[in-house]
Amino acid sequence: MTTQPRSVIITGAGAGIGAAVAKTFAEAGDRVYLADLSSDRLKATAADLDSSLVSLHQVDVTDAAAVDALVDVVKSESGSVDVLVSNAGVFDAAAGIEATTHALWERVIGINLTGTFNVVKAVTGPMVEQRAGRIVSIGSIAAQRAMPDGLAYCTSKAGIEGLIRRTAYDLGPYGITANVVAPGVVRTDIRATSTEILGDVVPDTNVRIGDSVMESLIPARRGAEPSEIAATVFFLAGPGAGYINGDVIHVDGGWIAA
Ligand SMILES: NC(=O)c1ccc[n+]([C@@H]2O[C@H](COP(=O)([O-])OP(=O)(O)OC[C@H]3O[C@@H](n4cnc5c(N)ncnc54)[C@H](O)[C@@H]3O)[C@@H](O)[C@H]2O)c1
Repeated sequence: MTTQPRSVIITGAGAGIGAAVAKTFAEAGDRVYLADLSSDRLKATAADLDSSLVSLHQVDVTDAAAVDALVDVVKSESGSVDVLVSNAGVFDAAAGIEATTHALWERVIGINLTGTFNVVKAVTGPMVEQRAGRIVSIGSIAAQRAMPDGLAYCTSKAGIEGLIRRTAYDLGPYGITANVVAPGVVRTDIRATSTEILGDVVPDTNVRIGDSVMESLIPARRGAEPSEIAATVFFLAGPGAGYINGDVIHVDGGWIAA
């Protein structure tokens, strides 16, 4: 494992958890390659960071060629691809099996699950070649719980756990780890951002439990701050976590245990 400064790719870095992950790594002196659909959101994230450590890339994770090109840039600029944080994702209101249209399914699975496949696959070659690397994917407790989250969302997060487990099995012999960090509720604007991205494919049936009711179900009695998710991601990318592989770490205030 390369010592710091490391090259760190973070998808969905324009807001919320991804922005907090970018801040955590950049403050530690790592070089962060921030990818997002929105260049405005990327600039907002970068505004708080040391510009000499930040590289911005308007990339849609569903576009495998664009993702491959980003990884090529990281490799040629930094000489190695040390850490991938696959975080980009959208949330699909609360559509169950009846309200989930084929279009909604394809968009959410396309971004959350196929997008994760695209970035994990793109870093695999360089990481295998360098015999080192850390992959952290942001899942959700929705992978394991039937939640008032959408059917496609829950399925995408369950899929990420399978993808990462199998990747860990494949890449462990090369000194690479792959793990999932699974939050419960995090205080971000994911609903608004996702509605902006998904637009018309989100159905009207926006049935959801209110935030106060949701938080009353969580033993911690609050949602997480994005920085609390970022701290676990940073740990998994660090020297103390080299023997954690193929795992799912819940950062959910005890919700999955409740
Ligand atoms: N907020 C929560 O309560 C919560 C809970 C569990 C898991 N998560 C997961 O954490 C991750 C980040 O969520 P957040 O709350 O920070 O959301 P957010 O909406 O605040 O930020 C997500 C970012 O991802 C970007 N993005 C979306 N689609 C993209 C694409 N196709 N290509 C590139 N970038 C794209 C958006 O532009 C946005 O900047 C997601 O995977 C989400 O499912 C969030």
